[in-house]
Amino acid sequence: MIAWKNMDTLAAYEELCAAQRVNLVEAMSGEAGAQRVKSYTVPMGEGLDFNYGARPVDDKILEILEKLAAEAQLSEKYEALYNGEVINTGEKRRVLHHLTRGQLGETVMADGVDKRAFYVEQQEKIADLAKKVHAGEITNVAGEKFTTVVQIGIGGSDLGPRAIYLALENWAKVNGTLKMKAEFISNVDPDDAAGVLNKIDVAHSLFILVSKSGTTLETLTNESFVKDALEKAGLDPAKHMVAVTSETSPLAKNSGYLAAFFMDDYIGGRYSSTSGVGGAVLSLAFGPEVFAQFLDGAAEADALAKNPDMKHNAAMLDALIGVYERNVLGYPTTAVLPYSQAMSRFPAHLQQLDMESNGKSVNRFGEAVNYATGPIIFGEPGTNGQHSFYQLLHQGTNIVPLQFMGFRNSQMGSDVVIQGSTSQQKLCANVAAQIIAFACGKEDEDRNKYFAGGRPSSIIIGDKLTPKALGAILAHFENKVMFQGFVWNVNSFDQEGVQLGKVLAKRVLAHDTDGALKVYSDLLNI
Ligand code: F6P
Repeated sequence: MIAWKNMDTLAAYEELCAAQRVNLVEAMSGEAGAQRVKSYTVPMGEGLDFNYGARPVDDKILEILEKLAAEAQLSEKYEALYNGEVINTGEKRRVLHHLTRGQLGETVMADGVDKRAFYVEQQEKIADLAKKVHAGEITNVAGEKFTTVVQIGIGGSDLGPRAIYLALENWAKVNGTLKMKAEFISNVDPDDAAGVLNKIDVAHSLFILVSKSGTTLETLTNESFVKDALEKAGLDPAKHMVAVTSETSPLAKNSGYLAAFFMDDYIGGRYSSTSGVGGAVLSLAFGPEVFAQFLDGAAEADALAKNPDMKHNAAMLDALIGVYERNVLGYPTTAVLPYSQAMSRFPAHLQQLDMESNGKSVNRFGEAVNYATGPIIFGEPGTNGQHSFYQLLHQGTNIVPLQFMGFRNSQMGSDVVIQGSTSQQKLCANVAAQIIAFACGKEDEDRNKYFAGGRPSSIIIGDKLTPKALGAILAHFENKVMFQGFVWNVNSFDQEGVQLGKVLAKRVLAHDTDGALKVYSDLLNI
């Protein structure tokens, strides 16, 4: 029997608050530090390891976190979720994104269909379209191949797919699987659409309109913007556009598309990268086989997340240590720092995933909670961030837990030896150095040059950023956010907090304003 309880009613949480804290500077120094880094590591699928040697925990705290995992019934709640229970209570929906990459438990029947079969069917339809486009069986009106694919969508219909495309673009180039270049239009800022349209050849471009709801202002506006450009170029928009949406959305009934592919309300936007939302653009750009590899990586991480033994479940462990840092140590933010230029947009994806999921002040029953929930997420790829905000991370008044990622090998393989090391070695040397600098600090009589240390981090380490590895990383974070939502007893799958601004913007556009809103509208010349 599952009980949904607030975190501060759990005995293990009380014990956690009372536990002796770890002195990270001491723990990470000398031979003891070396042993810690060797032993505090857990596989997270696809040859990746989650190393938490520099997180502020010890065996005692880990033991209490294991109790917390059991008391909060994290494994049972995950099982209920993937078996199709209505976990998104706010919207009265199941939460089924795991089914887009595998069958973790029982067959989930909803709306009269087997949901895994439904998602696979959509993936197969997308694969079929992609193959026909690549083979020149589906072409523009002049019979010429499409060379570019452009995704029109925002939020979850943009961030994940864009981050994944960028993460794999160079990998695909060197592996000979870059079939089409992808571009993305998301912002309602007309300069976004105009900028993309200016740099592509519209006659050879296939547009994917992606909106689960089919009602998002930005996406519908950009669709019209693109259709206008196509018409001005003498082209029929219906021959250049496909749609990915839910069967219940207004777009589903629109005949103005070459093809339509479906997801449903059981897949939240920020969890939709492995559905048709990511599947269409990634299959067209890289080929369906590469997208399938990406799904396999995610499925492996999902399966590992089933392990009730926290020490062998990287997503659960990461989640619980994060809760300890957020609620007991009081750290309000987390930085995502991939030492991989390819992952440049991954922090932006995690911002939505984490903050839209767990940025809540009420529990699943709509009652105010008396503890902090989701942290503020931000990040940049290393080493770029080192020359920017790392000053505050090293010496500022806030302690910011850090999530590093690093790969032993580059994706493209092209490198030079300068002053005795390759660029890849320099990149990896920097991330190793940063972990120790943050954790151990440095004594100095000059207080301006003193580093207090005690700044925690973990690192995901892999051989190379491949489609499978990326899938495993994506699923790791989805599952981590889910487990944290379970501990905090919030509904991680709705997003009421984005609605108010949309309503007010509509009023501004309808000139239905007064007071300060009218003044701002006038100042902005609306
Ligand atoms: O406004 C927030 C949001 O609903 C996100 O949750 C979602 O990812 C995004 O808008 C786009 O929604 P849609 O795919 O329905 O256009």
